Amino acid sequence: MSEPLVQLTYASQANFTSNKQGGVETEVARILLQSRRNNPKQQLGGVLHFGNGYFFQCLEGERETVTAAYERIAKDPRHTRVQMLELNTIQKRRFQDWSMKYVALDSDIQALLNQHNLKAFDPYAFGPVLIENLIDLFAGAADYDGYAPANPGYTKTKPSWWARLLGKG
Ligand SMILES: Cc1cc2nc3c(=O)[nH]c(=O)nc-3n(C[C@H](O)[C@H](O)[C@H](O)COP(=O)(O)O)c2cc1C
Repeated sequence: MSEPLVQLTYASQANFTSNKQGGVETEVARILLQSRRNNPKQQLGGVLHFGNGYFFQCLEGERETVTAAYERIAKDPRHTRVQMLELNTIQKRRFQDWSMKYVALDSDIQALLNQHNLKAFDPYAFGPVLIENLIDLFAGAADYDGYAPANPGYTKTKPSWWARLLGKG
């Protein structure tokens, strides 16, 4: 029998100084390239958001895979104050087609924060309802470069938008 699926969310604070290329932080693009190379081998999925100097990441997969990935990611010097927000057993993945989806959606996120009386994106202050609402928003959103999640062959046949951004396509 396969292991139970879990969903882990955490918050962290970026350690790098801003260096944007094509509207995206170079370091964030590097993290996504690494994630998209590594995660499919481990059937690890999820979503990453970077805003206001903070990361919010949701990792989904088998329990041992997720906790091992979290422990590895938590040691990464590109961020600090890594704090687990939630660890839940799930029946079904919310991020089926993605090795690591990246969602920007700043205005939609701000609207959600307003509903929760929060001014800025500060994931340490998020309660369980807001976390669930955010995950719903991220699950329904297009990836940053806009290609359809229903096209799983994309990354195998074409260099990704992220790789092109870093000149590695
Ligand atoms: C906020 C953040 C999120 C990350 N997410 C992932 C991830 O989902 N998968 C992954 O393999 N690495 C992720 N990393 C990078 C890992 O910490 C580590 O650098 C990487 O897995 C090493 O991969 P490599 O051995 O292929 O170079 C993340 C790093 C940060 C700072």
